[in-house]
Amino acid sequence: MNLVFIGHVDAGKSTIGGQILFLTGSVDERLIQKYEREAKEKNRDSWYMAYIMDTNEEERAKGKTVEVGRAHFETAKKRYTILDAPGHKNYVPNMIAGAAQADVGVLVISSRKGEFETGFERGGQTREHAQLAKTLGVSKLVVVVNKMDDPSVLWAQARFEEVETKLSPFLKQCGYNVKRDVTFLPISGLMGHGMKDRLPEGMAPWYSGPALFECLDALEPQDRSPDAPFRMPLIDKYKEDGKVIVMGKTEAGMVRRGDSLLVMPNRTLVKVSGIFRDADEIAAARPGENIRLRLTGVEEEEVSAGFVLCSALHPVPVVVEFDALLSVLELLEHKSIFTAGYKAVLHIHTATEECEVTMLHYQLDPKTKLPIKKKCLFLKSGSIALVRIQLAGTLCLERFKDYPQLGRFTLRDEGRTIAIGKVEKPRGQPKVGEAGAK
Ligand code: GTP
Ligand code: MG
Repeated sequence: MNLVFIGHVDAGKSTIGGQILFLTGSVDERLIQKYEREAKEKNRDSWYMAYIMDTNEEERAKGKTVEVGRAHFETAKKRYTILDAPGHKNYVPNMIAGAAQADVGVLVISSRKGEFETGFERGGQTREHAQLAKTLGVSKLVVVVNKMDDPSVLWAQARFEEVETKLSPFLKQCGYNVKRDVTFLPISGLMGHGMKDRLPEGMAPWYSGPALFECLDALEPQDRSPDAPFRMPLIDKYKEDGKVIVMGKTEAGMVRRGDSLLVMPNRTLVKVSGIFRDADEIAAARPGENIRLRLTGVEEEEVSAGFVLCSALHPVPVVVEFDALLSVLELLEHKSIFTAGYKAVLHIHTATEECEVTMLHYQLDPKTKLPIKKKCLFLKSGSIALVRIQLAGTLCLERFKDYPQLGRFTLRDEGRTIAIGKVEKPRGQPKVGEAGAK
């Protein structure tokens, strides 16, 4: 199961990731002591647990994750991959790439006085990450209310309930089914409480629910059909021993060693000569797995992040334009009216492209979701509309209905997420040989 740790800057994501690795025996006591000394030298005493996940100098010096950290752990029941996303608003694109690989989101909230409030403000990343994760296909959330040990909290029931009461309506608004798909847990990532084992007796007598591991083990893996045509958006590529290796998550269908597939939008026919999961070579991968594939028949320069590896018989549509159902979130203060001609950056699966909303077809009533029979000239925060989006280049995407993970997107402008959407109808599919097909 692929977990992405999301949430506002300094909520404790990397600390929790580090603590999990410590609790599952992937990091030993001596290394922790070394990090304690290193963190002290940088006047970041409490940051030693985060150092397990934050491995580069910049991250350690500033105490902020930049690149999505990756780690693995196992419980008696399941094998997990942790994707530790950065919380800082400048690195939202990295967070998006991380969330695109995940099935379950661990939304980390700091319960410390003032910190929950800042993260949950307009423009705070608690909001933005929760919205983005949902759009990117993360349908289940474990909300860990962290730093419960902090002197401003001291495991107070009232604080935990305040976070739950304030967040729940917002998560519902993002599209999560809060009763079915969201769980709230009190923990201390720094102390390791409420994670591997249930809370020690007397720490929070008001909470009798599961610990984090228990809660994760109980989640059902997402139901994906292994019979669907294969789809794998590429996250990255590199060369090893002269061979091209691509990385990504299989979103639909199976892949087996020896398969012939297409790299889209270029239509390059490739052969899968090796499949790797973590350190192991495997013969086949099911949908929903993070894997690496060794390809023959393609040069490294011919593949990019955002391309899609797919079934040669049923390739993914390549488009320059599409119609979409758009939900406008909070617009920028100085652009509070959204009209045709609005330019933004589109993020869909692992691809990013500049785009323009060229037509507002009609608006839908946000409550009833029924079309409003009136000419639509502009949209405001909270509006829902069917629109046409034109891309600056070509992109591989699918109807949301057919492949949700390849059919939902976000629009960002000036570093803020302003809208989320679902692809209704791909348009302007260029034919082979036409401009735009390459
Ligand atoms: P970014 O990667 O920058 O988004 O931050 P992050 O969410 O990864 O937070 P990080 O783990 O770097 O922790 C930020 C600060 O919060 C550090 O000083 C941690 O020691 C502190 N912290 C994290 N978890 C806890 C906790 O459970 N209790 C207390 N008291 N402090 C915590
Ligand atoms: Mg971090």
